[in-house]
Amino acid sequence: MKILVIGGGGREHALVWKLRQNTAAEKLWCAPGNGGIAAGAECAAVEAGDVAGLVALAGKIAPDLTVVGPELPLVNGLVDAFVERKWAVVGPDKKAAQLEGSKIFAKEFLQRHNIPTAEMYGAHDSAGAAYGALCAVDWPVVIKADGLCAGKGVFVAPNPDAATDFIERVMEKNELGDGGKRVMLEEALEGEELSFILLTDGERYAALAPTRDHKRVFDNSEGPNTGGMGAYSSDDLLPAQLRRTIKTTIVEPTMKGLAADGIRYQGFLYIGLMLTKEGPKVLEFNCRLGDPETQAILARLEFPLAAVLADVAAGRLQPDKLKWKAGASACVVLASGGYPGKFEVGKVIYGLTEAEKIADVKVLHAGTKRLGDNLVTSGGRVLGVTATGNTLGAALQRAYEGVGKIRFEGMHYRKDIGKLQQSSAAGN
Ligand SMILES: Nc1ncnc2c1ncn2[C@@H]1O[C@H](COP(=O)(O)OP(=O)(O)O)[C@@H](O)[C@H]1O
Ligand SMILES: [Mg+2]
Repeated sequence: MKILVIGGGGREHALVWKLRQNTAAEKLWCAPGNGGIAAGAECAAVEAGDVAGLVALAGKIAPDLTVVGPELPLVNGLVDAFVERKWAVVGPDKKAAQLEGSKIFAKEFLQRHNIPTAEMYGAHDSAGAAYGALCAVDWPVVIKADGLCAGKGVFVAPNPDAATDFIERVMEKNELGDGGKRVMLEEALEGEELSFILLTDGERYAALAPTRDHKRVFDNSEGPNTGGMGAYSSDDLLPAQLRRTIKTTIVEPTMKGLAADGIRYQGFLYIGLMLTKEGPKVLEFNCRLGDPETQAILARLEFPLAAVLADVAAGRLQPDKLKWKAGASACVVLASGGYPGKFEVGKVIYGLTEAEKIADVKVLHAGTKRLGDNLVTSGGRVLGVTATGNTLGAALQRAYEGVGKIRFEGMHYRKDIGKLQQSSAAGN
């Protein structure tokens, strides 16, 4: 089998790592890939958002299967272009990807199908209307930019001044670009967050191992939001009763709702949940796997990924093929100095070989590139040190042992991955 993976972060490195372990996967490409992915796949210099460039690349290498990592190509219609040409691809089409591409579209979907979610106060396409709407909300209020904003589009505003400031930055100064043209105001929920990710062929679905990520840059969930500083997976995250509740109140109504709306959703569907006192409620949908959740999830994979993904693309998923290693896994992200603000790149990375000598440790690359004989940093999030263990404690211990072997100038990371984080502290 020839497989093309789209994207170039830690999530895509994890996909390439596991697709490689499958004997059916003979040849792998990745666009654009990174310095670590290059060890397992041939990297092609096409950006993930460039639909025309990716169609041209796939036309040339003729992969048997294409797996899309990030949201941008999905929202830009990459899958539509592939399906039109009858090329096998894993990921939702443009219409289905609106579940992530528009938070207002997602909220209206949730409301229409009576799926538990935060109450929406209103959606606005002018700053004036949004300021006006602040008179009639409870505090704190959650303000969400409608479109794709790379994790910067949501603000839990504690008071009217902070809310006004955010709306001004998003809607008047256009700091988030087109993603901020419309905003939605919604009720603030309290509880712990949980990522619940499905793999579906449009009809059947299977749940992946449950995960939780850590978004704030510093320990105790302090400091600004990031793309994710770490994640862990453990079956304890999802007791049987909670799993049943999520299945009956959220997953099944979502699958039925998609069918009723004529949306054929194929690929990974990420459901961000808040576990409130009233039960689980949907915070958001993502139309792809999470990063760094994927690193933790795939570390526990015990099935041939390439074969199962080929089944998804062909519309014949067999959910009971997805098997997960018992126990737990953890991924600790090593970031560049200054991240998530301005950061420097080009720092030489040391200690990777020593880290990977530790049993059950895998270092997944997010922002690295080869420079001569060296591997150097090339992004804000640089590496995800990922480990498995019989217990979460064992997985964390191994992951941090691996972290201890690695160094580059300015490197920083959280020391509390795997500890419970309260959502009340998130989102600012
Ligand atoms: N209704 C809400 N109540 C409380 N916190 C929220 C709410 N919606 C979002 N958040 C917080 O903001 C974070 C980001 O929001 P989310 O909807 O996941 O958007 P995105 O991931 O696109 O930035 C969430 O992980 C959560 O911590
Ligand atoms: Mg989110």
